[in-house]
Amino acid sequence: MFPLLRTLAVSMLSLTLMSAATLPDPSSFPVQPDLPDPLRFLSGAPVKTQRDWNNRRRPELKQLFEHYMYGALPARPDRITFETTGTHQDFLNGLGTLRTVTIVCGRTDPTRIQLMVVTPNAVKGRAPVFLAMNFCGNHTVSDDPRIPLTEGWLYKSCAGCVDNHATDASRGSQKQDWPIDEILRRGYAFATFCSTDIDSDRGDVSDGIRAREDRSAGRAVEPANRGTIAAWAWGFHRCVDFLAKDRSIDPKRIAAVGHSRNGKTALLAAAFDERIALAIPHQAGCGGTAPSRGTIGESTARINAAFPHWFNGAFKQFTNAPARLPFDQHCLVALVAPRPVLFSNAQEDQWANPSGQFDVLKAADPVYRFLKADGLDATQMPAEGVLVRSRLGYYIRPGKHSMTAGDWGVFLDFADAQLK
Ligand code: GCU
Repeated sequence: MFPLLRTLAVSMLSLTLMSAATLPDPSSFPVQPDLPDPLRFLSGAPVKTQRDWNNRRRPELKQLFEHYMYGALPARPDRITFETTGTHQDFLNGLGTLRTVTIVCGRTDPTRIQLMVVTPNAVKGRAPVFLAMNFCGNHTVSDDPRIPLTEGWLYKSCAGCVDNHATDASRGSQKQDWPIDEILRRGYAFATFCSTDIDSDRGDVSDGIRAREDRSAGRAVEPANRGTIAAWAWGFHRCVDFLAKDRSIDPKRIAAVGHSRNGKTALLAAAFDERIALAIPHQAGCGGTAPSRGTIGESTARINAAFPHWFNGAFKQFTNAPARLPFDQHCLVALVAPRPVLFSNAQEDQWANPSGQFDVLKAADPVYRFLKADGLDATQMPAEGVLVRSRLGYYIRPGKHSMTAGDWGVFLDFADAQLK
C-alpha cells in the first residue's frame, strides 16, 4: 500500500474525518487508471458494514468531493424566510395552482431566490414534485405574465435578453421544452428557480452567494477557486427547505432535475442532501455524470480551462492527472444511494460521454447492492429510446444536446417507476 495511505489507514480506523488541512496533496495520490473502489476508504481499508458506509465512508467522500473538486457548499443561513408573492389557482386553465415565492437567505445582504411552484389541482393529498434549476429565468418556462421576470444577470443566449437582462420578450420562450401541463396531468407538482439568483455563471464578478461569502470573510474574489456548481447546489437545498415544509408537497418525493451544467448541480445537490428522493442529471457530462478520467468528449483539462469557476482551486491540480483523483463520479452517485438516479443522454451529445456515464453507473452499482437496494439492471447500454428503469436508470435518445418535452416524458416514466 502507498506509505502515506498506510499511515492514514491506521488513523482512519479511529477517527471519522481528517481536518481539511491534513488531507494529502493531490500530487501524493497514486495514479489509478480505473475508477477507484467506492467501498474502500481513502486509507485503502474496506468498508465492511452499512454502518461503516453511512457513518464514515459517506462523510469521507463528501469531504473529498468538497476539498478536491467542488469547493465547500455554502453554509445553511442562520435565517431563511419564505415570502409568497402570488397564489393563482387558475394556472393553465385551472390545471394547477401557481405560487411565486421569494426565499430570503440570510439576515444582512441576503441572497434572494425566486421559486415558482405549481401544484396539480386534481391531486387532493401531497404531490411528488420535480424541482428544476433553469438557465434563463422562471418566466421563460411559461408565458403566464404573473411570473416575475428574473432580475439578475442572464446568459446572452437567452431569448429576449437585453444587456444580459430579461425583458418581457423572453416570457414563455422555452415553454415548449417544459411541459408543465403534462407534469400536472400525471399528478406531479413542478418547481423551478434560476441559477443566476444564486450565482451568475461568470467567475470573475462580485455577485451571488460566493461573492457574499468572500465579502464577509474579507477575501478577494478568486475566479479559479469559486465553486459555482456547489453554490448552485446550495440553491437547490434552499428550495428544498421550502418544498419539504409545504403542505401540498410530499416531502419524501422531491426529485432534483437539471440539464447539462445544471444537471451536474442536480446530482451534487442530491448527493449532499438526503431530502432529495430522486436525481435526474440530464446530459450532465464531465464534472457531473461522466468520469473525470474519461477519454471521450470533454476532459478534465478542457472543463478546467473553459469553466475554472465551476470548481475549486484544488481541482486544477488534477487537470493533467485526473487518474490521481481518489474518487470519480460513481462515488457521487454512490452518495445518493440507495435513492434512485437517472442518467439521460443523447446520441449526438458525445461531448457529455454517454458511454462513460453508463460505466459510472455500473461502478456505483456495488454500493447500491451493498446497501441491499436494487442498482443498475443492465450490463450494456440500452438501445436508443429504451429506458432502463431500475434504481440506477439510464436512457439515451437520438439527437443533440438539449432538454425537450420528450425528455420530460422519460423523467415522468422514471419517476412513476421509482417514486410511486
Ligand atoms: C459546455 C460544457 C459542459 C456543460 C455544457 C452546458 O458544453 O463544456 O460541461 O455541461 O456547456 O452546461 O450546457
